[in-house]
Amino acid sequence: MTSASLIILKLIFFFVTSNSSTSKLVTYDHHDHHQFNLKSPFDDVVRVLHEEQQSLSITADDGFGLSHDDGTDGGVSSPESGGDIEMVTANKSRHEVMHEDGQLSARGSTVNPLNAKEVYHEKDIFLEDYKQMNKSLRIYIYPHTKTDPFANIFLPDNRGSPGGNYASESYFKIALSMSHFVTQDPSKADLFFLPFSIASMRHDKRIGVGGIKTFIKDYIFNISHKYPFWNRTGGADHFYVACHSIGRTAMEKTPQVRINAIQAVCSSSYFLQGYSAHKDASIPQIWPRPGVRPTRHPSKRKVLAFYAGAMNSRVRESLVQTWSNDSEISVHQNRLNTPYSESLLGSKFCIHAKGFEVNTARIGDAIYYGCVPVVLADHYDLPFGDILNWNSFAVVVATQDIALLKRILKKIVESDEYTQLQKNVVQVQKHFQWHKVPVDFDTFYMVMYELWVRRSTVRIHSFN
Ligand SMILES: *[C@@H]1O[C@H](CO)[C@@H](O)[C@H](O)[C@H]1NC(C)=O
Ligand SMILES: *[C@@H]1O[C@H](CO)[C@@H](O)[C@H](O)[C@H]1NC(C)=O
Ligand SMILES: *[C@@H]1O[C@H](CO)[C@@H](O)[C@H](O)[C@H]1NC(C)=O
Ligand SMILES: *[C@@H]1O[C@H](CO)[C@@H](O)[C@H](O)[C@H]1NC(C)=O
Ligand SMILES: *[C@@H]1O[C@H](CO)[C@@H](O)[C@H](O)[C@H]1NC(C)=O
Repeated sequence: MTSASLIILKLIFFFVTSNSSTSKLVTYDHHDHHQFNLKSPFDDVVRVLHEEQQSLSITADDGFGLSHDDGTDGGVSSPESGGDIEMVTANKSRHEVMHEDGQLSARGSTVNPLNAKEVYHEKDIFLEDYKQMNKSLRIYIYPHTKTDPFANIFLPDNRGSPGGNYASESYFKIALSMSHFVTQDPSKADLFFLPFSIASMRHDKRIGVGGIKTFIKDYIFNISHKYPFWNRTGGADHFYVACHSIGRTAMEKTPQVRINAIQAVCSSSYFLQGYSAHKDASIPQIWPRPGVRPTRHPSKRKVLAFYAGAMNSRVRESLVQTWSNDSEISVHQNRLNTPYSESLLGSKFCIHAKGFEVNTARIGDAIYYGCVPVVLADHYDLPFGDILNWNSFAVVVATQDIALLKRILKKIVESDEYTQLQKNVVQVQKHFQWHKVPVDFDTFYMVMYELWVRRSTVRIHSFN
């Protein structure tokens, strides 16, 4: 065969194949156009919006009534946000998987944590980056004076120590203002801090829950007209910090903040409209406890697992229905006679079950008392998850596997994996603690690190 005829053959072949695929496309387009619908990557999952009763919300103390009696902030988890988005799985049956070695595991649950010993994904890289961050990260805070009519919203509240459910928000602002990261020179800044406090807006009668969205819209209008920084990046090098779940709707009138800025928030679910995993950062909800941290040896922790809290979600209802009469797992929906701290110290595992939101202060509580957290909150983008290996100090269980809880936990105790998990909890305690004057590797520094990895390295030059 001549090379010319080979080329002709190839051309014919190309024509036939390309034409057939084109015609297939055309056919689909005409007859099967539904095949071009995007398939949801979560097709076994449906989104259910259900209204929570206002009355439920009032008693929904998110469990804090148990220990957090001072109830600085009422401990009410966003009843005003008007409902709870809860994920339920369409197929409620349990997906048990029998491994080759005969071990039982549950789909989506952590039974055999990989790399269980190491608390960090990449310790050396983290420490190296952290040093770099600590040296070079610079933050510009939009300036406000004490005479600003909304000084209470913008300035750190340095009277006393922050407490309550939303303490993380206040602590961040105080710690940042005391830190070496702040620069007065915006040309040196990597990031710009929007210093409004959503928790304070809620309590300010001039704004209130209903006025937050408009206030933020006005604020962004003001800074984008007064300063050149916002317009340069459309807000991408700006961030704010919020712990109250109202934050998820607070940006509805300012899509640029929601889409471009970095939102460091406590309510960090992969399925919240207002939260974008990877762009935004999850921060832990911490109920601060002053004084000396109590400790207890694992062998003296007699209860297998502990949970207490209000019944404001299906996950919690299912947990209580399944385990309330168990002799080893202690779950309660009412106030306890035993002090909350004693329950956390006396248990091997402490259960965090999602309520209105994926987050509560319970994970922080468990870690504080050296109790291994059990996370029952599907699609919770866990705080510092890109730095910390949660499988090394917590047990993450899919909510559809609540019935397997005891088997999962007993296996961990019997295999003595528990000892390592508990030791690792003690190791991560420092990352789940705030200080007014920040201390290396505490929650403030961890949040700064999260911001650092999200900064843009492109510098935009301007001549004004
Ligand atoms: C639900 O899961 C079970 C167990 O994996 C399976 O046998 C069943 O077909 C599933 N049902 C649906 C509706 O997907
Ligand atoms: C971080 O910076 C502060 C202030 O300069 C310094 O005191 C601290 O030792 C630094 N930490 C590390 C780990 O580099
Ligand atoms: C925006 O600026 C106006 C005019 O200075 C001021 O009255 C208003 O309080 C500002 N609003 C916010 C939310 O900063
Ligand atoms: C930023 O952009 C807005 C909208 O385009 C514009 O009105 C405003 O004047 C700009 N701000 C500055 C400081 O140029
Ligand atoms: C627990 O036990 C009590 C008393 O036997 C019974 O009334 C109740 O229905 C049980 N609860 C569950 C969830 O099984």
